[in-house]
Amino acid sequence: MTDQYAVIGQPIGHSKSPLIHGMFAEATGQDMAYRAIEGSRESFRAQLDEFRASGGRGMNITAPFKLDAFAYAGRRSERATLAGAANALKFENDVVYAENFDGVGLVRDVTHNLGCALKGKRILMLGAGGAARGALLPFLAEKPALLLIVNRTLSKSSQLVSEVRSDIPLTSSGYGDLAGQHFDLVFNATSASLSAELPPVPATVFANCELAYELAYGKGLTPFLRLARNAGVKRIADGVGMLAEQAAEAFAWWRGMRPDTRLVIEKLTVPLG
Ligand code: ATR
Repeated sequence: MTDQYAVIGQPIGHSKSPLIHGMFAEATGQDMAYRAIEGSRESFRAQLDEFRASGGRGMNITAPFKLDAFAYAGRRSERATLAGAANALKFENDVVYAENFDGVGLVRDVTHNLGCALKGKRILMLGAGGAARGALLPFLAEKPALLLIVNRTLSKSSQLVSEVRSDIPLTSSGYGDLAGQHFDLVFNATSASLSAELPPVPATVFANCELAYELAYGKGLTPFLRLARNAGVKRIADGVGMLAEQAAEAFAWWRGMRPDTRLVIEKLTVPLG
């Protein structure tokens, strides 16, 4: 029987996951079906129960259910636990496993697709919400020289930093403390770009910056990327590669083989302008 997979979110119409996993399945010859399910806040758990009961093997989870999916799972990976959120579930026998591949997908995109090492680099991450939480452990595993997390609401970034034990210098501060500081890599993990806003980051952080990366996908040249480009950053990128790589990680977790992401990235790339 064809193995069943799905992505659940609300709204779900915009999701690229069925297209991505359809391309992966075709390229690898896997006998699987992947569909989109419009989630309901009232009956999310019942929807998952029903999908599992009908033979579902795994799911991707998107907004606003990543926290609910984490709570639903019986076994959670370390990075899902730090994020407090799951973007992928696997159903095996009666066990529900939770994973969060957003951060590993991001690291894979930066190091492998963009050819930019994180090791020994000075990294600035803007934001301390779910996206930043997901990226934290995979970033630290690359052994950067330092990682600074900056957030509007200081208590959130200091809380996040306090939850992690790290040999790498890991600190938090406010946007006001960025004056005079330079970074090799700057990541925008805020949700500001979704409403075409600019986090209050001074352009001076980009002096000597080799890559400015917007975790959001499909928004073109966001105010953050425009600021970086105008400040002279040679390399700017959005989250299309991260989207493809997190999907490839989930696919590998479910199916035991990692698909190539090149065609998916080519198909989904939206020009940055
Ligand atoms: P996500 O899952 O996308 O990370 P989230 O958990 O709601 O979403 O977190 C949103 C992040 O974007 C937060 O760090 C938020 O900052 P606050 O914690 O201070 O609210 C940040 N954010 C959203 N809009 C922003 C803006 N206009 N400028 C700076 N930061 C912004």
